[in-house]
Amino acid sequence: MSELNKIALQILSNGKGILAADESTATMTKRLDSVNVNSNEKNRLLFRQTLFSSLSMKECIGGVILYDETIRQKTSDGKTIPELINSSGSLTGIKVDTGAKTLAGSKEEKITEGLDGLRERLKDYYKLGARFTKWRGVYSISDQYPSKLSISVNAHALARYASLVQEAGMVPIVEPEVLMDGNHSAKDCLNKTSEVIRKCYEELELHNVNLKGTILKPNMILPGNKSGEKLSSEEIAELTLECLNNNVPSSVPGIAFLSGGQTEIEATANLNEINIKNNTDFIMTYSYGRALQQSALKFWSKDTNNITGTQEIFDHRAKMCTLAAQGKWSKNLENKK
Ligand code: 13P
Repeated sequence: MSELNKIALQILSNGKGILAADESTATMTKRLDSVNVNSNEKNRLLFRQTLFSSLSMKECIGGVILYDETIRQKTSDGKTIPELINSSGSLTGIKVDTGAKTLAGSKEEKITEGLDGLRERLKDYYKLGARFTKWRGVYSISDQYPSKLSISVNAHALARYASLVQEAGMVPIVEPEVLMDGNHSAKDCLNKTSEVIRKCYEELELHNVNLKGTILKPNMILPGNKSGEKLSSEEIAELTLECLNNNVPSSVPGIAFLSGGQTEIEATANLNEINIKNNTDFIMTYSYGRALQQSALKFWSKDTNNITGTQEIFDHRAKMCTLAAQGKWSKNLENKK
């Protein structure tokens, strides 16, 4: 087994998933503003450090994705954040793209930037303790989008990124996120997501990326949030499995979904159903940002010194997601805290 494949499996096996705590400072400021907490370096560290020292880190969280600011921070007792994460057996990851910018040639769409100087930045992140990375391409659905241009250039960027990351000895998370915003149907989401993922693997293979040493982070197949269409978790799971089964090469070891604006319970219930129905060899788990942190953040904002209370809420969510990653979750477990 290659070293990269080992890292990917260490992050995803046994129901473990990923905590995506890599919000850029701008996004984290939005999240903190929404609960009336001042967004400064100290508060961003305090909230994140609270999560990273929770009990569930050991049993549930195989990896944590950080933002550049956090990977360089230290806890009050002098540990680096990667040391804190590693102390519970979890691995440190880092977001290495520099954000989605307006795509010249199709101005309503985005292209993710960050390739210039990436080889040097990756060496630095490896030294700081990172063993896996993330790059997010973002696509919206409408009559005309995602355009062939956006599908092609984002896949190309993801492949160039993944290839450089493997050269640096780390596992790339390949994240093509087809947004749920809009009035499109679930069928549209299925078709467009399939096209996006197919193109990503075409480019990854062209760039000689070792797929066994990668993780795919896709969206689930959902109807647009303004479409009025309602699907059961069973239907979402069937469409999502159809998409992944038909378009992801079998050498990819695992798939870790983003939550993408689903509620905590929706993201958990849908993942659970995907695992109940999973007829593939892929590990299917979570790489959630909002769906792991929302309740904990809300609680913490009321009393930022209540570390234990905040951790209990985070631990519960992580445990529910880890059960869902094994198809063992049920709604009544939500009340037994
Ligand atoms: P959400 O789970 O909040 O969508 O965040 C995951 C992520 O990393 C998006 O890039």
